[in-house]
Amino acid sequence: MRLDKFLSLMKYCSRKSSKAFLKTHQVLIEELRVYDGSINFNPNSQKLYIDNQLIFYQDPIHLVLNKPKGYISANHDEMHPCVVDLLKDPYHRFDFKIAGRLDIDTEGLMLLSTDGAFVHEITHPNHHLSKTYVAVLDKEFVDEKRLLEGVEILDGRNQIYKAKALDIKSMKKEVKIVIDEGKYHQIKRMFSKLGYEVLYLKRTKIGNLELDNLLPGTYKQVRKEDIYD
Ligand code: URA
Repeated sequence: MRLDKFLSLMKYCSRKSSKAFLKTHQVLIEELRVYDGSINFNPNSQKLYIDNQLIFYQDPIHLVLNKPKGYISANHDEMHPCVVDLLKDPYHRFDFKIAGRLDIDTEGLMLLSTDGAFVHEITHPNHHLSKTYVAVLDKEFVDEKRLLEGVEILDGRNQIYKAKALDIKSMKKEVKIVIDEGKYHQIKRMFSKLGYEVLYLKRTKIGNLELDNLLPGTYKQVRKEDIYD
């Protein structure tokens, strides 16, 4: 691609201001100092240095992130901080799509990827990627069987839908539940249907990926192969 396109994709400057950027910053492709934004550059095979710093580039990039409470699963929001605001250099330069949103008050594992087709694939209802949540309820949970059999709840389009737990383990008010769909407020609605309120919710696993010791607000790069069951 053209160098000016790459610089603007990576948020160093706009295409319009690339001329000035190339004048005021030392930009090298491999060892060659470049001033012309129309020059061809292949970020997958060539090295780019800006002011003596090697520029990080990969395509695709997949991240696992521990979403803290209070963050929105989105790229922009007027009112609240968004999960992408947690990304630091160099990841903040890339456009990430979010695979499987969490409510603002839910914590835990989120997957972000620069590969839109991959995100579409793993979030598609036919894909049935398993997700594990830990919920703390307002009272002791005694209805494992009913959630394993399935309960009728409304989905995001207000259509009735039978939601089933694939696995469930409870210890008084704390419940570990596995589902393989991702309908709107699914976990809260499944418990609410049986008269329980979810006081705390955290996603701990998607496919094979676990949160492990990733602290809230932090993230790490993973490979596609780390995700699938
Ligand atoms: N189910 C919910 O109710 N909320 C979430 O954030 C995720 C799953």
